[in-house]
Amino acid sequence: MKNAFARASGRPATRLRPRTALVSAAVGLAVVATSVVVASSASAATTLGASAAEKGRYFGAAVAANKLSDSTYVGILNREFNSVTPENEMKIDATEPQQGQFSFANADRIVNHARANGMQVRGHTLAWHSQQPGWMQNMSGTALRNAMLNHVTQVATYYRGKIHSWDVVNEAFADGSSGARRDSNLQRTGNDWIEAAFRAARAADPGAKLCYNDYNTDDWSHAKTQAVYNLVRDFRSRGVPIDCVGLQSHFNPNSPYPGNYRTTLSSFAALGVDVQITELDIEGSGSTQAETYRRVVTDCLAVARCTGITVWGIRDTDSWRSGGTPLLFDGSGNKKAAYNATLEALNAGGTTPPPTTPPPTTPPPTTPPPTTPPPTTPPPGGAGCTASISLNSWTGGFVATVRVTAGATRLNGWAVNIAIPGGSTVTNTWNAQASGSSGNVTFRNVSYNGTVNPGTSTEFGFQGNGVGPTATPTCTAS
Ligand code: XIL
Repeated sequence: MKNAFARASGRPATRLRPRTALVSAAVGLAVVATSVVVASSASAATTLGASAAEKGRYFGAAVAANKLSDSTYVGILNREFNSVTPENEMKIDATEPQQGQFSFANADRIVNHARANGMQVRGHTLAWHSQQPGWMQNMSGTALRNAMLNHVTQVATYYRGKIHSWDVVNEAFADGSSGARRDSNLQRTGNDWIEAAFRAARAADPGAKLCYNDYNTDDWSHAKTQAVYNLVRDFRSRGVPIDCVGLQSHFNPNSPYPGNYRTTLSSFAALGVDVQITELDIEGSGSTQAETYRRVVTDCLAVARCTGITVWGIRDTDSWRSGGTPLLFDGSGNKKAAYNATLEALNAGGTTPPPTTPPPTTPPPTTPPPTTPPPTTPPPGGAGCTASISLNSWTGGFVATVRVTAGATRLNGWAVNIAIPGGSTVTNTWNAQASGSSGNVTFRNVSYNGTVNPGTSTEFGFQGNGVGPTATPTCTAS
């Protein structure tokens, strides 16, 4: 994060070239003194990312992989932004188009571009009712719950260590005055699906901030805003791992910027979570649009834990709502009045101390996070297999990740026996079939992960109530 912030100061380089230095020396000290004055009076940052970084924050954009070959687009991206969010490439339909078959090529293009250019990455999104692949749309009940948890685990594990913040769950509340959850296949797997997703995400990538993200949650008086607030408060009080709330903030005449926006930001922050403006766009034009951008930025800078802003695209023509010309650059890549207001507001901020990065919130993992790539267990010498377990526990619950490693011969099926302590129960399993939920439980491979080549590994996981297993699991080839 520090590197990203330090990347581009936005200031002209002040180092003198040798010839200039000679001339300066010849002309005398007055010239040197003048150049020092000029350097300090030109201290206002000249790009969005550099200005936000000076306030300890990021300024990001949603990015589409297929535009990374557009030089105008990439020129603006690299110059102005220090964070990116893949606009569609990390969604469920993109990353798991067939069940159990993961596809990361397009998301990787964005992540690699970001890393090569010192930008951080927001992950969007692990669990959502929309943009589900066909196979998931057709699922329900336990099968869907397990598939969702497996998806969260696999994707967050793949990107472990590379994602600043994950939108773990997106848009789970209904619009209107009910304050209820949105009906969806995921919601019908049980009201605890959101916390199950957050626990799986924490276990998979303990270093990422985990966010709940939604729209129409900007106006403090709206039922939906209150419903999300109550969810976050409940999670914090029960130790469900959540670190941030994302406000999409798509503003237009039907859903305008509310005068109490700053109250919303500060109220969420008071729950002990970061607040991120995750998909900002403001339909309109000219000074009206510019002034609304100024207000949004000023509100964020006034709240210490409003840690970053992402605009949902770069040029108006890149927007999902291009007809509303809601972004900071016009179709030709020129800066709009909205851009100037945004930069001015960023540069004017600074009365708020930079937010501190809190340590990971509860529940703390009991095992140190694996580094990327995960350490490989040396293959056992003989035939058969070995299993190792890593636990992420909190008061009253745990997530276990089990690694099955083949010995000298290929496995065509495996079974892992794990003693679940008395009083504890297994509530969910992914990438394996459990024989029961308590006592000695045998976890067998599922159709797609029974074959494991000599010396290589596969992983499965399960979640439970109570305390996690402590005995070493035993693995048998079957
Ligand atoms: C939008 C993308 O911008 C479009 O390209 C896509 O066709 C649909 O999704 N809320 C979200 C984003 O969380 O993922 C949505 O992105 C916009 C609304």
